[in-house]
Amino acid sequence: MSFDWFSGKLLAIESSCDETSAAVLDGPNILSNVIASQADVHQQWGGVVPEAAARMHVEAILPVVISALEQSGTALTEVGGIAVTNRPGLIGSLSVGVAAAKALAYSLDIPWLGVHHLEGHLWSVLAVDPTFAGPSVSLIVSGGHTELIHVEGFGKYRVLGQTRDDAAGEAFDKCARLLGLSGPGGVAIQNAASKAAGDAKLRLPIAKVGPTEFSFSGLKTATAHMAALPEAANNPEYAARAVQEAIVEPLVSKTMAASLDLGVETVCVVGGVSANLRLREEMEIRTRRCGMRLIVPPIALCTDNAAMIGLAGSIRLGRGESASNEDDVRSNAVLPGLE
Ligand code: KG4
Ligand code: ZN
Repeated sequence: MSFDWFSGKLLAIESSCDETSAAVLDGPNILSNVIASQADVHQQWGGVVPEAAARMHVEAILPVVISALEQSGTALTEVGGIAVTNRPGLIGSLSVGVAAAKALAYSLDIPWLGVHHLEGHLWSVLAVDPTFAGPSVSLIVSGGHTELIHVEGFGKYRVLGQTRDDAAGEAFDKCARLLGLSGPGGVAIQNAASKAAGDAKLRLPIAKVGPTEFSFSGLKTATAHMAALPEAANNPEYAARAVQEAIVEPLVSKTMAASLDLGVETVCVVGGVSANLRLREEMEIRTRRCGMRLIVPPIALCTDNAAMIGLAGSIRLGRGESASNEDDVRSNAVLPGLE
């Protein structure tokens, strides 16, 4: 099956957290995807400071939109529609992207549409296969979300389970700090863990929760205790591997169990944590063993980006949906079309 993509050049904008991003798409083709990350600045405060994030989006939004247009060889007047993340996320951050989208849409007299951030992550897999329309079991793993979704088709979603507490990305970030690793948490743990050769010297417990549920908050305490052990101090790469395994194993085993249970042929893993090489490798092995197809976005489209918002937005705009000038941002919102 193929989608009725929005016809004409589409400008997409994402600013829900600490990345300012703009992309230009022509149907499913991503012509440019520019991302300005504030992560380095927030690092000094140990987390995203909403007020500072909003102000940095104000500074970045026009330069990022202009370079996305330039890199795609698109004149502003050629843009036929705009898709922008309007929910969920930090209100101040979302408002900057939506205000820019509204102003541009009004001045160009073109339609715009607010896109749910997680619907963007879900359909980032269209960058791999633009004809993929579901069904699938899709695992969304990011800094703010860990959700297992049965995707029956575009706009038809059922939540199978989610985290009871911390998100998987949050667990990577917090445990990295507890281990004294610098830089973005997920990548820091992945890089340190890749240096651990041979059998595991350290192990961390996996929370016992429901078959489609996750829990990562206890991992912080366990990691803090482990970090105090001389074995961890002397072997930081094994400590990092223990954290990575304690996060990856429940993600993989529960996604596979739900996929087998529902009898789907395709499994998708999306969101920032889907960039994790160990998670990708293990999902590849387990899906192949079960004769299932695995779709993961290219690494650049795992973490927050405007191209994924453009892919989901293009399908909705192509169906004739559009927003009005009164439409606003929302900090919390369930996926559209949730059963
Ligand atoms: O999707 P995303 O960019 O933002 C949210 O919507 O939350 O996800 C960011 C999260 C962060 O927690 C980051 O540590 C994690 O994705 N992440 C990774 C990797 N790259 C990014 N986690 C594990 N391994 C990675 N390679
Ligand atoms: Zn995200």
